[in-house]
Amino acid sequence: MPDIEISRVDRIQILRLNRPTKKNALTATMYAALADAIEAGDALSDIAVHVILGSNGVFCAGNDIHDFLKTSEGNPGLGADALRFIRLLPLVAKPLIAGVDGPAIGIGTTLLMHCDLVYAADGAQFSTPFLNLGLVPEAASSLLMPQRMGYARAFEMLVLGNTFSASQAREAGLVNAVVPSSELEAAVMDAARRLAAKSAAALAAARRLMRGDVADIVQRVGEEAVAFKQQLATPEAKAAFQAFLTKSQG
Ligand code: COA
Repeated sequence: MPDIEISRVDRIQILRLNRPTKKNALTATMYAALADAIEAGDALSDIAVHVILGSNGVFCAGNDIHDFLKTSEGNPGLGADALRFIRLLPLVAKPLIAGVDGPAIGIGTTLLMHCDLVYAADGAQFSTPFLNLGLVPEAASSLLMPQRMGYARAFEMLVLGNTFSASQAREAGLVNAVVPSSELEAAVMDAARRLAAKSAAALAAARRLMRGDVADIVQRVGEEAVAFKQQLATPEAKAAFQAFLTKSQG
């Protein structure tokens, strides 16, 4: 079973994160598979909507920390697929709907800033512990999260590192609705089907108008990537990655 399962049904492309042994932490291969599928789905006239889901009660534990460690130890090529995926997010042409159950950490939360609709199970938890790892925000979250949640709440999540519950995330405007875990995927698919039933041209135009010019977002992704790369190389970041990996193995 691949770590990213891709299926297409009723004009909806479903991207399912499925790496249960590592809580759906994203590897370079997984980023590449996600980016390939989104580009392919955007180009297909019989796909109207992308859906992103986790599995086994987990959305995504963020970037694979082994990969972060290898990058900090001098393997910079490992970040290329992650950056390709992150650069693609503001440019996705078709609506992106996420269904979040369990933890959504790091990129698991920041990718939601690029989604048009986000549904959460009542046990979902959102966190971006970048600073705890000696890192900085990515995926234009330093721009989009304050816009979405207001500066105070965004700083609390993005810099202080607080975890938001599903109801706090709903309150903050990060998610559209909170549902029982057993109803999450039905809620996501219902919204996806409703979007897929609309005129493709009208949907594309409405989305383009609502999102406006994405140049600032693209630029912020680039600025963050420079700072992120610098921080990845610091002893503090390396020590934080080693501490996590030692703790989870111990
Ligand atoms: N990268 C690599 N491996 C990860 C991972 C990540 N981001 N998140 C979890 N894993 C691995 C653990 O190392 C562990 O592997 P092992 O069984 O080989 O030891 C396995 O997944 C299960 O994780 P564990 O921590 O034991 O599960 P948990 O239920 O106690 O906690 C999380 C789950 C997701 C809350 C916790 O794993 C976590 O905080 N992960 C790191 C999140 C993070 O900081 N991501 C980077 C954001 S920038």
